[in-house]
Amino acid sequence: MTITQQEAQWIQETVEKLKTKWKPVTERNVGKIPYSSKDGVFDDYSPKDKVAWWTNGFWGGIMWQMYTLTGDDLYKKSAKELEDKLDQVLMDSPGLDHDNGFKWLPTAVADYRVTKDQASYNRGILAANNLAGRFNLAGRFIRAWNDWGEDDHRGWAIIDCMMNLPLLYWASEVTGDPRFSQIAQAHADTAMKNFVRGDGSVNHIVEFDPDTGEMVRSYGGQGYEVGSSWTRGQAWGLYGFALSYIHTGKKEYLDTSRKIAHYFISNTPESGLIPIDFRQPADCQLEDSTAAAIAACGLIELAKHTEGRDSDLYKREALRLLQALDQKRSMWSPDVDPLLEKCTVAYHEPSGHEITIIYGDYYFIEAVMKLSGQELFIW
Ligand code: GLY
Repeated sequence: MTITQQEAQWIQETVEKLKTKWKPVTERNVGKIPYSSKDGVFDDYSPKDKVAWWTNGFWGGIMWQMYTLTGDDLYKKSAKELEDKLDQVLMDSPGLDHDNGFKWLPTAVADYRVTKDQASYNRGILAANNLAGRFNLAGRFIRAWNDWGEDDHRGWAIIDCMMNLPLLYWASEVTGDPRFSQIAQAHADTAMKNFVRGDGSVNHIVEFDPDTGEMVRSYGGQGYEVGSSWTRGQAWGLYGFALSYIHTGKKEYLDTSRKIAHYFISNTPESGLIPIDFRQPADCQLEDSTAAAIAACGLIELAKHTEGRDSDLYKREALRLLQALDQKRSMWSPDVDPLLEKCTVAYHEPSGHEITIIYGDYYFIEAVMKLSGQELFIW
């Protein structure tokens, strides 16, 4: 991936802005696990009734990226405190689901990668074993969620899980036991077949018969409707398949990521700002900045793992998304806790429209770290 002088200048300026903002933000939020914010102040998901929330690893991820960038112990201490708090989730089976990857890759596994801490290794392996245990042999998929109320989720898988698979790749890497990676690849193969459509768009949710493994139906999930194109789901697929390629070297995963990427790029509006769903009604202007930040991370990985014109295209499009966020959707003031505006939980959830969400901030930071060559590889 070649970076022009002008691009390098933007990257360097953005790195400096991140350093200026995150130090006071972190000092003000010691002890919290932020998810969203109110009036510029982070909320706190560390209390017992919220600590199992799927996004609770991302604050740790921000801390480890900022520690890697600056060497400031404030970030390391804060990351380790959060990792300790997540132990209560590891000891509470209803709090464990396929999002073990989102919770423990940016916390325990990141810690292990940096410090080789054996307690962190232990947490990562426990989380990976639990994730592997969610594999349905008949349908060759990893079950997403536990049951909620009367809903039966035994046969549900979601595209987001592509981002949890790296916990299994990591477990195989460090233990030498191929079972974890075999399960991850089996799930990725199923997702390639049942989630990714001919045009490169993806389903959010697919239901399988949990006994026979037959595909039953797809759902619109957090997007507009069945058959629509939830942008964060496209981004999870784009980045997730690129990661499966990086861990396995299997070209079909790279090709699948590229197919989703070309679909994403051809649907990206002139503004570089991403809607909630590429197929939402034309009169709906709602956005999701998280989709842009996650897709940018995936595009940068594609740029690194391809050559020539396509590599340039992926890099240019990643920068277009990130610069649109930087210039139009970022709150750079150090007096305001969150960074990105207009992050959206789900199309049909008005209370989660265009709020701030911690993983939007996380992936923006990760993307800038990737471009600057200083990233801590988390996935
Ligand atoms: N993994 C759930 C979401 O992306 O909202």
